[in-house]
Amino acid sequence: MMKFDILTLFPNMFSSPFQESILGKAIEKGLIQIRTINIRDFTLDKHQVVDDTPYGGGQGMVMKGEPIARAIEWIKSQNPSVWTIYLTPQGKPFNQKMAQELSNRSHLILLCGRYEGIDDRVRKLFADEEISIGDYVLTGGELAAMVLMDAISRLLPGVLGSDRSAEEDSFFQSLLEYPQYTRPPNFRGIEVPEVLLSGNHAAISRWRRMEALRRTWMRRPDLLEKASLSNEDRELLKEIVEQGRGEKIGDGV
Ligand code: 6GU
Repeated sequence: MMKFDILTLFPNMFSSPFQESILGKAIEKGLIQIRTINIRDFTLDKHQVVDDTPYGGGQGMVMKGEPIARAIEWIKSQNPSVWTIYLTPQGKPFNQKMAQELSNRSHLILLCGRYEGIDDRVRKLFADEEISIGDYVLTGGELAAMVLMDAISRLLPGVLGSDRSAEEDSFFQSLLEYPQYTRPPNFRGIEVPEVLLSGNHAAISRWRRMEALRRTWMRRPDLLEKASLSNEDRELLKEIVEQGRGEKIGDGV
């Protein structure tokens, strides 16, 4: 069971996304628990002020340290070993390996910053880890927190159907997925590759590996450097390279 505690000024942003589909089921089954905590509830002043102007001047507002500190201390009083992640564009770029490592923990705090960020002292004192979801700017950490929760939750035992094996996941790690087809066999003039209808499982596996390698080579050659490739993979790649890079995205491959 994984517990997510989301610290945010906008708890309503989290009400619908996790009631749907696979994550909704995971909550129902008790595999994950998501609690939203409104930072505003941890203010001590009458007007419940959560932000203030930056020292030194400049644009925008900075989230005050005290309400965030009190909210985290409240959670830590329930579980001292909780792991605190601050979502920020200055953080480490999120990837699958980080999702895997975080999925081994049992309780995460996801601290969502807004405006121009949080007082740097509360970050220093409380953030165990800082994570970004990519090189673009969002209005706040909330969507990033949702991305983390989705990527982590699907790795937990029982969340995905048993038909998706961890073994297959790791075999295709750091490669793009091979193309998938379903009925009908001819869709608007385009046939399903014959091998997939053959019932020859060895041939199907080889074709899928080939197409995963081809897609990765064509679209994300950078991923191939990190992929662990077998000698057979290298043979397949040689064939692909000899066939040429082929069509670009949008040209039908
Ligand atoms: Cl974690 N926060 C914000 N505000 N923008 C981002 C981000 C996080 N990751 C990428 N862009």
